[in-house]
Amino acid sequence: MLVSAKDMLTKAKEGKYAVGQFNINNLEWTKAVLLTAQELNSPVILGVSEGAGKYMCGYKTVVGMVNGMLEELQITVPVALHLDHGSYEGALKCIEAGFSSVMFDGSHYAIDENIAKTKELIAIAGAKGISVEAEVGSIGGEEDGVVGAGEVADPNECKQIADLGVTMLAAGIGNIHGKYPANWGGLNFEVLAKIQELTGTMPLVLHGGTGIPEDMIQQAISLGVSKINVNTECQLSFADATRKYIEAGKDQQGKGFDPRKLLAPGFEAIKATVKEKMELFGSVGKA
Ligand code: 13P
Repeated sequence: MLVSAKDMLTKAKEGKYAVGQFNINNLEWTKAVLLTAQELNSPVILGVSEGAGKYMCGYKTVVGMVNGMLEELQITVPVALHLDHGSYEGALKCIEAGFSSVMFDGSHYAIDENIAKTKELIAIAGAKGISVEAEVGSIGGEEDGVVGAGEVADPNECKQIADLGVTMLAAGIGNIHGKYPANWGGLNFEVLAKIQELTGTMPLVLHGGTGIPEDMIQQAISLGVSKINVNTECQLSFADATRKYIEAGKDQQGKGFDPRKLLAPGFEAIKATVKEKMELFGSVGKA
């Protein structure tokens, strides 16, 4: 059964580790993330962007697929199905479709409107036991057409949003979706420390997990980050493994064209990336 992200993140914050959110794109992706979480006895959050939701034929299809896998693969670790960077309308649709967690990304609204909309969603989601992630200060880079400028959040605005009763809070601290440019300035730990000081036990979320050096990840966790989102890195390892298979001409040998064979190296590559991240985030054995 899907669970809200609340308990797993409360435990993570207390235990000073982070739960990974891995974005999913199709059946192979979902299966790879779920099986790895089960093998490592780790809690996990499946992230679905609005674009990926559309690609997978809508939120109801996603809910059906994930619930089916939880049962058929006998997944017993805590799993949350979470809308990533949702619009207000998207969040409502996901709540309706059976997601156990939603992010409302109101970071592009003025703070008052972000607050008003976040408040409404907390009331609707809260009545159903669904966790809500809010965002302050947009995350840089581009994800599924959502372009963020890479701001650093205002800690006082973070406090205002946290006090509304959100479950977890994403704050821009110089992080970017996708690969980091060579001249990237790194995470702003001063601001992160200030946000944690003002928001206390609130689990903080670090977006743009791809390519952040290990020591920065560890420092972020020590300063209250309890959820780390990873998307691009799984895409890169999937593409890399698939390319190698094709370049080696394996699709032209025997029945190597069978999608179950063709997609197997990419599937294994996602599993390896997820394992590496769970070990780095410290969530292994924490289910
Ligand atoms: P990356 O694609 O940089 O890993 O970011 C993922 C993310 O933050 C999803 O919201």
